[in-house]
Amino acid sequence: MAAESSPRSAVDDAFYQAADTFFPAQQGVALTYDDVTLATQYSEILPRDANLETSLAENLQLQIPIISADMDTVTESRMAIAMALNGGLGLIHYNMPERQQLSEVTRVKYHVHGLIQEPIKVSPEQFIGDVLALIEERHFSFSTFPIVDGQDRLLGLLPGHVVRPRYAARKVSEAMMPRSNVHTIAERELQPDPIGRADKFFNEHVGIHKLLVVDDEDRLRGLFTLSDIERITQEKAAPLKPGRDSQFRLVCGAAVSATRNSTGELDQERILRHVGALVDRGVDVVAISTAHGFSKGVGETVRLIRDAYPDLPIIAGNVTSAAAVEFLAECGANAIKVGQGPGSICTTRIVAGVGIPQLTALYVCAKAAEAAGVAIIADGGISKSGDIVKALTLSHAVICGGLLAGCPEAPGQIMEINGKLYKQYRGMGSPAAMKAGSAARYGHSKDTTRKVAAEGVEALKEVSASLDSVMTQLVGGLQSGMGYIGAPHLADLRNRARFARITPAGQRESAPHDIVEVKTGSPNI
Ligand code: XMP
Repeated sequence: MAAESSPRSAVDDAFYQAADTFFPAQQGVALTYDDVTLATQYSEILPRDANLETSLAENLQLQIPIISADMDTVTESRMAIAMALNGGLGLIHYNMPERQQLSEVTRVKYHVHGLIQEPIKVSPEQFIGDVLALIEERHFSFSTFPIVDGQDRLLGLLPGHVVRPRYAARKVSEAMMPRSNVHTIAERELQPDPIGRADKFFNEHVGIHKLLVVDDEDRLRGLFTLSDIERITQEKAAPLKPGRDSQFRLVCGAAVSATRNSTGELDQERILRHVGALVDRGVDVVAISTAHGFSKGVGETVRLIRDAYPDLPIIAGNVTSAAAVEFLAECGANAIKVGQGPGSICTTRIVAGVGIPQLTALYVCAKAAEAAGVAIIADGGISKSGDIVKALTLSHAVICGGLLAGCPEAPGQIMEINGKLYKQYRGMGSPAAMKAGSAARYGHSKDTTRKVAAEGVEALKEVSASLDSVMTQLVGGLQSGMGYIGAPHLADLRNRARFARITPAGQRESAPHDIVEVKTGSPNI
């Protein structure tokens, strides 16, 4: 719907201004999400009908404009799979050996939704007490386990009803259901429709809840559960579709580093070998994520990859200026990450005194991006769904770290402190993360004997609901915002957004106040 066709008033236009009026009027002052609010407008759409599709490159479309950060406490294969299943994108971090990152990407690309590809297994020699301890330690919500030998060959199944403290001293082999009674299916029989095949099996076998997948040597290759299959068949009617490539595989991105060799030169050979291996694994986009994207090294890295892979979507950053966007676009990036210092674990602004509050940075960068024909991604500082709506008035997607780090799908163990459950969340510029490999992202060497100024902190996030629930809240909030603004598509959100500055009093008014809150609006995200 065109903005012009809506009932309008000149009074509104004077007070609630379009970005091109609003931001230039604040010249010299940098604003972020909580400094502004968006005016509601005449609407002909229901929130649930708001279309969230976005394009980051000619060959990179997402169903929803939300990306999980390439951080070692946010995105590995489990998070990337969950993000893609929700229509978004996960960027697998690079704070791990190259080989491991490649297998993380492979896991996403070859993920068969509903098939647990690496089920937790036990050995016949373990005691039931060991299994109980494992469940307790890893907070598993299930208690049935396949039993395998040292070569992964299936020996039987340990049913949940025998995993009890009463039998703790018994060996798994004494309590297991033998191989001959376990229901299995050969891996080669699954194609072309694994879910349909498993669904058929569960229909035909009343009361059976687990189906194990084996290869021709009877090695365990996966596990279907009835509850997963039922959820998936119900989800088929859901409005948000998973993000898939042309071969029906889930979409997946991966971080690439602007690595230097021992003489300080860009290690072109290593970068190209890394990207080549990622492309072979089917990666859909690479992200060159650095603290300072407006730099020679990042520009050269983008150019190197662009020349070698003309069609590969490239995300590059991070920047906060129009000149930087023009520079990276000219080098060949398709989407530019905007954000220096807004992240919940960042200390760049404190340590280095640089960085621009996010909304002003987005406006400035968006102006250059529009002219250069590239997309803008708002990276960092998103703490609620309303921030996503505000960010998308000036960008094509958002990257979230802290909002997703408490999900069970994020890497890392759950820990209990004073009765509450937490997960670790750390900045990639924190001392521990840099020691693990991310120092180059902050322009430092990995040499841990040298003292460097950290630009991030190590923190904890309270364990949140599953990624599916968090996404439901974020997407619901985004669609509400689009409904209030009368924007059926994200492009309309960018065109129709009208801004007003708010004061600290306005900020107080914007959140629950003068009450004793007994229940938060969203389930712990
Ligand atoms: P949120 O606010 O979503 O931010 O937690 C995630 C984004 O923060 C950036 N990042 C850092 N920035 N020091 C920084 O200055 C760091 O240690 C650091 N680690 C991550 C990154 O852009 C991420 O997507």
